[in-house]
Parts: sequence; structure tokens; C-alpha cells
Amino acid sequence: MEKDNRANFGSKLGIILATAGSAVGLGNIWRFPYMTGDNGGAAFIFVYIMCVFLLGIPCIVNEFIIGRYSASNTARAYRKLSNGTPWAIIGYIGVLTGFLVTSYYSVVSGWCLQYIYASAAGHLKGDPQFFASYFADFEKDPIKPVIWAVVILVITHLIIIRGVKEGIEKASKALMPALFVILIILVVSACMLPNAWEGIEFLFKPDFSKVSKDLFLGALGQAFFSLSIGMGCLCTFASYFTKDTDLTNSAVQISVIDTVVAILAGLLIFPAAFSIGVSPDSGPSLIFITLPNVFEQAFSSVPIIGYIVAISFYILLSLAALTSLISLHEVSTAFFHEEMNINRKTAATIVTVICSVIAALCSLSLSDWDAISIGGKPLFDILDYLTGQILLPVGGFLTCLFVGWYLPKKIVRDEYTNYGTMRGKFFNIYLSCVKYLCPALILLIFLHQIGVI
Ligand code: TRP
Repeated sequence: MEKDNRANFGSKLGIILATAGSAVGLGNIWRFPYMTGDNGGAAFIFVYIMCVFLLGIPCIVNEFIIGRYSASNTARAYRKLSNGTPWAIIGYIGVLTGFLVTSYYSVVSGWCLQYIYASAAGHLKGDPQFFASYFADFEKDPIKPVIWAVVILVITHLIIIRGVKEGIEKASKALMPALFVILIILVVSACMLPNAWEGIEFLFKPDFSKVSKDLFLGALGQAFFSLSIGMGCLCTFASYFTKDTDLTNSAVQISVIDTVVAILAGLLIFPAAFSIGVSPDSGPSLIFITLPNVFEQAFSSVPIIGYIVAISFYILLSLAALTSLISLHEVSTAFFHEEMNINRKTAATIVTVICSVIAALCSLSLSDWDAISIGGKPLFDILDYLTGQILLPVGGFLTCLFVGWYLPKKIVRDEYTNYGTMRGKFFNIYLSCVKYLCPALILLIFLHQIGVI
């Protein structure tokens, strides 16, 4: 692959929307609200925002620098820069992690498609017990969730094979604005419900007595997952950035967009839940069991609004999932395309097939066919934990050491300042964060979690 023939994003807006599309996903609308609910509301958000700004932004800039400098897929990017040293492994681990995340992510994305269908067909009606058993039956079904996971992977595939500008960028420019519009309309509708205030208070009034040992690692893992850090996703996208893209500025903009969307998702879900007196701390099933019930009851005086809100909510989730899946898929597609010297279409097909198989196993691990479990835990839960709480922070940690201590400072500064055309105001602060603060904090959180400190 010659550098000059490589695809690029066509515009600055395209770069921001595509990268924000990667960041804004199920992490914001599915994972963030349930983690907030489980961890005492505003206290979690407070720690989360600290993680985004202190750890997230420097880690995003790291990946941007590596990706844009090397203009190649993640594995080759780290390999090029590591001059035969073992640092190259980080890139390969990234690609491997990408496969795992893509697979389990497509399972949950598939659930969202099923719920668009179910709410549109009017199946989501009943008492709270009904919603719980509806989800349990669906999740345990060996066929339906697998089909939906493959459907969303194929949609992703069809976008990816059109290329970077015509596929990824065009799709992001259409899907992201749609996502914002739906989100705002839903937030306004939820906040107008009676008692919505209690949900808003839960989100913004910290109760530090709820701060637990798990909260810090949870918030760290969530920040990395939500910002797409730690497995070369941002590095792959940055390899399509133009030379005049302001990396720091883009990293800040993307983090702000991502955090705002997560909080807006909270402002949609918690006011709606509190308005009917439902407790929000119900784990991953919050949006598939609690919420359909909440929508039905909260808008029971005008059922048609409840109907539209439910469909719109699952469309919102699916759009968010799709733009993130595109970025996850692209990591492996670029890898096969460039490393095996095959065309993009074939590379994408290999990725879609492998991911469909792992996704099917992952989905089946939740069904009655519980053969696919390790140590009594379903493969799905293992992949969620392994990627979110271990591989991503480890990838981010190693990348900090790589950029901070191994890479020649000149390369880092040149990329940071666009080869001296910008002042690079915060360069020294950024570099100190990457050398000391970020690795130390990530390590501390880990040691704390495993009980060493
Ligand atoms: N950030 C996305 C979300 O919030 C998911 C995602 C896309 C991701 N690319 C990633 C997570 C890379 C980790 C690494 O849903």
C-alpha cells in the first residue's frame, strides 16, 4: 500500500462526525446509564468525567498521532514505529481485541433491531413481568438474536465496502445528525413527564456514600469503551485524517460530544424511569426490560406517543450502534486489506464472516445452550468484561508508555503541531500526562481493583 494512494476523509466535518460516530454508541446509551444506575448516579458521573478529561483525551491524541503518522492499519502502524522491538505487539493485540468487541457488540446491536421490530409491531405491551419474560425468551432463543446480529453485521459490511469517503464518511454524515435530532426530541419528551425532576436530581446530585471500590475501574473502563480507546480504532481512523487536522482539538471535540450524548441519554432514561417510580439500578437489562415498560406506562394517557417514543428510542440505539460497528469493523478490514494484500471487499467479507461466527457463539452462550461458557460464565459476559475492563485499559496503558517513553519526541511533537504549523499550546502538559499521570492512574486503578492497595 503506497501512502499516496491511501484513502482520506474528505472534510473536517466528515472527520469529526465519523470519529464521533465511533465514540457515540451503545456505550453511551446502553452501558453508561446502567453503570450510572448501578453506581449511585452523579457520583459515578463525576468520576467518569474526570476519567474522560484526564485519561481519555491524552489517550485519544496518542492513537491519533500513531495513526496519522504511519498512515496504515493498526498492526502496521505500531510495527512501523517500533523498529523491530516488541512494542509492535500492541497493534496486533488491538486488532484481535477488535474482533472480540465487534462480535459481542453486534449481538447487543442485533437486540436493538429486534426491539425496533417488536415495538413497531405492537408486541411490547403488558405488565413488568411480561417485559422481563419477553426479553428472557428472546435472549434464550437460539436463532432470532443470531439472525439480527448477522443482519447488522451485513449492513455494516455494505457500508464498509464502499470505502472511506463514500462509505464511512457519507454514512456518518447522514446517521449522526439523525441520531442527535431523535435524542433531543426524546430527552424533551422525557423531561416533561411528571416527577421527571427526581431523575434529573439522581443524575446530578452526587451521593458519595455510594462510591465503591469497583466504581473507579468501572468508570475508567467505561470512559475507554465509550471513547473507543485502547484497540487501535481511533488509530485506524486517524490514518485517514488529512495532514492539517488539528489532533488535540478534534480529540477534545469528540470527547465533549461523547460525554454530552451519554448525559443526554441519562436525561432521557432516568426522568422517564423515576416518573413511574421504577428503580433505575437494574444492570444491563435496563434498556430492554425496564424501559419498554417505562415508555408504556409513562405515556399511558396518550398511548400513541408511547408507541412512537419506543420505536424512536430503539432506532436511536441502532443508529448509534451502527456507526460504532462501522469503526470496529474497519480496524480488521484495513488490517486484512493491507497485510494480506487483498482487495477491500474480500477483506471486509473475511471480517464479516469471522465476526458473525463469534457473534453467534456469543449469543448462543446466553441461550439454554450454555455449553459456551467458561468457569460458569457465558462467553458473552466474559468478552464484555475481558475487553471493557481489561484489554482496553491495558491497550491504553501500553500506548501511553509507547508514545511517552519510546517514540522519538520529534515525531510526537511534529504530529501534535502539524509539523510546526500550529503552536501546540498544551504539548508539554500532554506529554507529561502521557508519560506519568495516565500510566500511573491506570495502574493504580488496576491495583486497587485486584485488592493490592
Ligand atoms: N465507543 C463505542 C460505544 O460507545 C464502541 C466502540 C467503537 C469501541 N469502537 C471501539 C469500544 C473501540 C472500544 C474500542 O459504544
